[in-house]
Amino acid sequence: MKILVSGGAGYIGSHTVVQLVAAGYDVVIVDNFSNAHPTVLARMESLTGTSIPLHSFDLTDHDKTEHLFATEDFDGVIHFAGHKAVGESVEKPLDYYENNLGSTFSIVRAMQRYDVDKLVFSSSATVYGEDQAAATEDRRTYATNPYGWTKVMQEQILRDVAVAAPHMRFALLRYFNPVGAHPSGTIGEDPSGIPNNLVPYIAQVAVGKREKLMIFGGDYDTVDGTGVRDYIHVEDLAAGHIAALKALEETDEAVHTWNLGSGKGTSVLEMLRAFEKAVGREIPYEIVARRPGDIATSYADPTKANAELGWSTKKTVEEMAADTWRWQSQNPEGFAG
Ligand code: UFG
Repeated sequence: MKILVSGGAGYIGSHTVVQLVAAGYDVVIVDNFSNAHPTVLARMESLTGTSIPLHSFDLTDHDKTEHLFATEDFDGVIHFAGHKAVGESVEKPLDYYENNLGSTFSIVRAMQRYDVDKLVFSSSATVYGEDQAAATEDRRTYATNPYGWTKVMQEQILRDVAVAAPHMRFALLRYFNPVGAHPSGTIGEDPSGIPNNLVPYIAQVAVGKREKLMIFGGDYDTVDGTGVRDYIHVEDLAAGHIAALKALEETDEAVHTWNLGSGKGTSVLEMLRAFEKAVGREIPYEIVARRPGDIATSYADPTKANAELGWSTKKTVEEMAADTWRWQSQNPEGFAG
């Protein structure tokens, strides 16, 4: 089985590539390195002991995408590539719609032209808008920012394609909050600039790159007043993609939607404490105003994925913190170091 992984040099993509190779798949990566570092390829190759073909181009380029499909005989696609920063999407909505929808158009057109029928799509809990507590897959989807709308729209586009081409198989995977790193500490999340997300920010405070964590809001209606999220270790998330790919090989249904989360909420302070345990010392923080657009609580109901994929999360919050810390402390400057 030969799988195209779009965005395979990125955070979730790279961890999934390593697991795909270990599971015996042939993998080809396309990545334009808009939010990834070329060093990741050598790290993935050293983890897998194999050479991994990588094509560096922008997937919104239909001709280049079709050319790749013409020269490789793919059996399926895992589509990670896309812009993902909520705040940036509010500043640059057209960039988000053009890039995220455009790459999906290219990929699905090329799949149809070259008879590739399986696609696993990187969606997000963001499609539940403000209704993310105990979210089940049948909940209505809508978004509160352009990034979120690109996910809602891409899901809809794939559903519409499935009606017109019922032999195709799509898995829409709604991720909750991916964190952690490969246990080797050689690949992990490497955000450019100031991290938007909690765990990379804590990691940079712990390694001395930032002074203290700003906790956005201490007055939510939650266990300790701070925001609650369903953190999922990136290794569990990667395993969910392989389970979804296998399920698509066997199913008669065109479209499947699965939440990938643990079902358990963790507050900002609880995550901070887990990190302090991993690092072995206190991490400075200050509680500041709420971040506009944040919700109090988000966690998955993962029952459907558990039952239909035979998949569930295995790793604890402590392991998420320990693995993130191993990656951050071994690579204080990320892949550029
Ligand atoms: N937080 C802080 N300080 C920080 C960063 C985050 O206190 O410096 C808090 C937030 O307020 C929130 C929690 O930590 O309570 C998690 O915030 P993240 O930014 O890590 O994650 P979000 O849940 O806000 O966003 C994530 C993804 C989005 C996706 C969304 C799904 O980053 O892409 O989940 O709803 F859209």
